[in-house]
Amino acid sequence: MTSEHKATISFSDGTAPVDFPIYKGSVGPDVIDIRKLYGATGKFTFDPGFLSTAACESEITYIDGDKGELLYRGYPIEELAVHCDYLETCYLLLNGELPTQPERDDFEMRVMRHTMVHEQMTRFFTGFRRDAHPMAILVGCVGALSAFYHDSLDIQNPDHRFVSAIRLLAKMPTLVAMAHKYSVGQPFMYPRNNLSYTGNLMHMMFGVPCEEYQVNDVLVRALDRILILHADHEQNASTSTVRLAGSSGANPFACIAAGIATLWGPAHGGANEACLVMLNDIKQRGGVAKIGDFIKEVKDKDSGVKLMGFGHRVYKNYDPRAKLMRETCYEVLGALGLENDPDFALAMKLEQIALEDDYFVKRKLYPNVDFYSGIVQKALGIPVEMFTCIFALARTVGWIAQWAEMISDPDQKIGRPRQLFTGPTRRVVKPMAQR
Ligand code: SDX
Repeated sequence: MTSEHKATISFSDGTAPVDFPIYKGSVGPDVIDIRKLYGATGKFTFDPGFLSTAACESEITYIDGDKGELLYRGYPIEELAVHCDYLETCYLLLNGELPTQPERDDFEMRVMRHTMVHEQMTRFFTGFRRDAHPMAILVGCVGALSAFYHDSLDIQNPDHRFVSAIRLLAKMPTLVAMAHKYSVGQPFMYPRNNLSYTGNLMHMMFGVPCEEYQVNDVLVRALDRILILHADHEQNASTSTVRLAGSSGANPFACIAAGIATLWGPAHGGANEACLVMLNDIKQRGGVAKIGDFIKEVKDKDSGVKLMGFGHRVYKNYDPRAKLMRETCYEVLGALGLENDPDFALAMKLEQIALEDDYFVKRKLYPNVDFYSGIVQKALGIPVEMFTCIFALARTVGWIAQWAEMISDPDQKIGRPRQLFTGPTRRVVKPMAQR
């Protein structure tokens, strides 16, 4: 990259001023290239939490936090959620363009032909307790996938990268469904390749060997939209983990397992499960009448209580995915005759109160993707502890696309941040008697 713009840092400690190039993206904030800072000054930048740090160049997903805009390869999420399905969105994120019909058919055929996992994988499950959290199972099983595919682990080989991507996309629904079935003590359901990607997911999760599973197209479309909304999101915590793991040359299965582990946190992908737990807590306390007390607790810093499903590092406006998720809520609850779902009514009242409260307005805290997704998933029959597995399934394509972009970047180096050291300086070990 070249640039005619520059930033100059001058120092009060006598260090000579240094010029740094400024690069402009196609849209969004400019970046200051500080790569030569340490060599020129012996100083590091300091940015824990990466509040002002761009870790990479990317062409995949763009977020405008102030406008509440989300684009996958330039397409607004609002358009993709209405005009496309999840597999088309996967093709777009991986290849940069929406597929033609023949391209889409070929992609779907390749993915749906890899949906089975090695039969030995089933034996990993028997080692887990039945009440193991399904995310613990998913982290373990996805990492273990690399043990079965020695034929495609050369990450510098584009064909190996493509095969691994297809295998991961194809097998995540199977592993997620197996984790669910194991937790409820039902037999695993083999994939049905004549069903759609998301129809097959619902078949494997909710079907049983004793009878034909009837796919409900309205519910499949709703779940497919949830997958689209969660497919990618720029350099969030789990994606940054996948990129960092990939920068060491780790195989794609290990990198995605690292992403799943990061997504599990309640501050990240675990928020949808935590949001339902929060709504249940408010219901236990007395429901809508007790929302005021709960909000008081959230505002009390010492309580440690957060309004789960609210706030975002980037969105300082309404998360566009939350709007689409709320619409999907209406559709699904209407289709199921659950218009008066108490969780949905409570969530909408909570949202209304929070959006009128200066504490949240001042901090630009709006509902994020996780606020409504749990309510939709619960209405679809997905157990609360499975919500983050569904998020991980959906985000697998984003992780793969970002990982592949990082691997193909000629400037790519192993990620190795530095630190501000404030610990003890050099000292000697005293004999035990003198300590
Ligand atoms: C996801 O990064 C991504 O893109 C993630 C994601 C994706 O698709 O990959 O969008 C998915 O992770 C969505 C976020 C899901 N998490 C939650 O809903 C958990 C609740 N939210 C918060 O924990 C928080 O908002 C974060 C973690 C999402 C963002 O935290 P930041 O950017 O570090 O903001 P912050 O903690 O510095 O908060 C700023 C202020 C603080 O108050 P003050 O110190 O200024 O007085 O806002 C407060 C915070 O205490 N605050 C909240 C709050 N979120 C922030 N107060 C109450 N409830 C909240 N939810």
